[in-house]
Amino acid sequence: MGSIDRIVLIGFSGTGKTSVARRLVARLGWPAADSDAEIERHWGATIPAIFRDQGESAFRSSERTILKQLLTRDRVVIATGGGAAVDPEVWGREMLGSAGTLVLSLDASPETILARLQRQATDEGAALERPLLMGADPLLRIQDLKSARQSVYDKSHLTISAERVSVDELAEEIADISRMCGGESLSVRLDAASGASEIRVGLGASSRIGDWVRHRWPAAQRAWIVTDANVGPLHANAIENRLCESGFQAKTYAVAAGEGSKSLDTAGELYDWLLGSGVERGDVIVALGGGVVGDLAGFVAATVLRGVGLVQVPTSLLAAVDSSVGGKTGINHAAGKNLIGAFLQPPLVVVDTGLLRTMPAREFRSGWAEVVKHAVIQRSTPGGERGDLAEVLARNAERLLALDEPATSYVVWRNIALKAAVVAADERETGIRAFLNFGHTLGHAIEAADYHLLHGEAVALGMRAASALGVLCGACGCSEADRISRLIDRFDLPSSAALQEARVMTRLGSDKKRVGGRQRYVLPVDGGGVVIRGDVTEDAVKKALASVNATTPSG
Ligand SMILES: NC(=O)c1ccc[n+]([C@@H]2O[C@H](COP(=O)([O-])OP(=O)(O)OC[C@H]3O[C@@H](n4cnc5c(N)ncnc54)[C@H](O)[C@@H]3O)[C@@H](O)[C@H]2O)c1
Repeated sequence: MGSIDRIVLIGFSGTGKTSVARRLVARLGWPAADSDAEIERHWGATIPAIFRDQGESAFRSSERTILKQLLTRDRVVIATGGGAAVDPEVWGREMLGSAGTLVLSLDASPETILARLQRQATDEGAALERPLLMGADPLLRIQDLKSARQSVYDKSHLTISAERVSVDELAEEIADISRMCGGESLSVRLDAASGASEIRVGLGASSRIGDWVRHRWPAAQRAWIVTDANVGPLHANAIENRLCESGFQAKTYAVAAGEGSKSLDTAGELYDWLLGSGVERGDVIVALGGGVVGDLAGFVAATVLRGVGLVQVPTSLLAAVDSSVGGKTGINHAAGKNLIGAFLQPPLVVVDTGLLRTMPAREFRSGWAEVVKHAVIQRSTPGGERGDLAEVLARNAERLLALDEPATSYVVWRNIALKAAVVAADERETGIRAFLNFGHTLGHAIEAADYHLLHGEAVALGMRAASALGVLCGACGCSEADRISRLIDRFDLPSSAALQEARVMTRLGSDKKRVGGRQRYVLPVDGGGVVIRGDVTEDAVKKALASVNATTPSG
């Protein structure tokens, strides 16, 4: 969205707007202003007293005037009152819609809001009259008012979660977002047992790839770009030019697009090209493409000359949030997918969300399944209690499907941070990395049995079936399964497909991740997060599959 001159925080009372604005002063060097405090100063009275004595319309009118004045300032963070954004006039081009104004909405559940407001009321004493806390059922009041206002809060550029996150953490996150709007990339560092990965995320990030590769490999002379026949014509030239500007001799090789290229034959083509053109140990392979190119080029980088440098530049959503991070590389074998491979943490991953704009629509939509998966497992991941990714996805879904910024880069970054934390804790998948298989055990079997579904579409069905399985096995209740299903719906992913049960069951039987001959399932638990269960009966699996099978009467 370009560089920003002011940040406006909107959202319900109790989401922390004022405290966060104050903490941003130190981080951005911008002063903080609070529209409620300005109004109180103007009238010489408290907000409840102004409401009582002057009426709501006088209050709203002065709120609008004061907000308009505050918005004429540059380099300022403005915290607004909970109802300020409800006035349609504040969204005009002279106010929240003005150039250089970043509007962020802070979100928290009604339960969290109530607890915070009650705490504030106790801390500040009886002098604080909170109309919201009056009456018999304040929670219901908050729920009703929040849901009435939600569509207004959702007009912001980005909604972020203020749930289970400290004011300092929230301020840090907002400072990062504002720097990203100004052209800096967000970064994630992944320290795994086998090596470290520096991951850069942001719109236009690939324009800096030359500097970053040069910084990481100061002595390297050649960069070998591996791409596919779809991505190459769209993006390889720009990447090649950036690398040449930083002093690399850059060459590009495009393999055929599609899963078929994750093969020994295509790896052989790449070995021939690299060895025939004089690749050396100090060189760098740049994987420019979706997960297929990333896995294939990563595998070749891990094996040619026993290992050369590797940069991942994901161009599909799936590759951006999932496959480019974590160091799994590999190719397929007739006996199954990804059966030959190596672990190689790419020292550099450059995630330019602008590259996603050329993706085919169906592939793009399908990639959101991996994002939903991360949101479901979040509570079971290291640091995963912080901020509610599922809520962030639900609130920002339309902006994300339109690839709006800064929402897209923010969500991609959060996903990468989540995956990086899981991989750092369990690189070789002996423990919690298996949580990333949520929806994939059933999804892979569905994908293998039905050749019309894209990976993410099959994973969406797999997640729905795993949720149904969770209910059948008592891991979670129906409301958790419904919550997951609703989130999948927000990204237009399928709810059923015509499946042949016998074929899916056969595929499940040959899954490479079975342990001691038993299939293990990652199932949702109430309140978010997942559990691994090895005691699931075949009958329950068939029932869960029936819930997503369009050919069964109940599907
Ligand atoms: N290594 C891991 O940890 C990991 C994790 C998940 C998935 N994977 C692997 O990832 C692969 C799937 O990845 P994928 O969904 O990205 O598939 P893909 O690489 O085949 O890309 C999907 C399609 O989109 C095209 N495409 C990609 N980016 C584009 C762009 N910006 N513009 C235009 N077209 C574009 C590709 O050419 C291809 O036709 C599978 O092989 C899977 O096994 C690996």
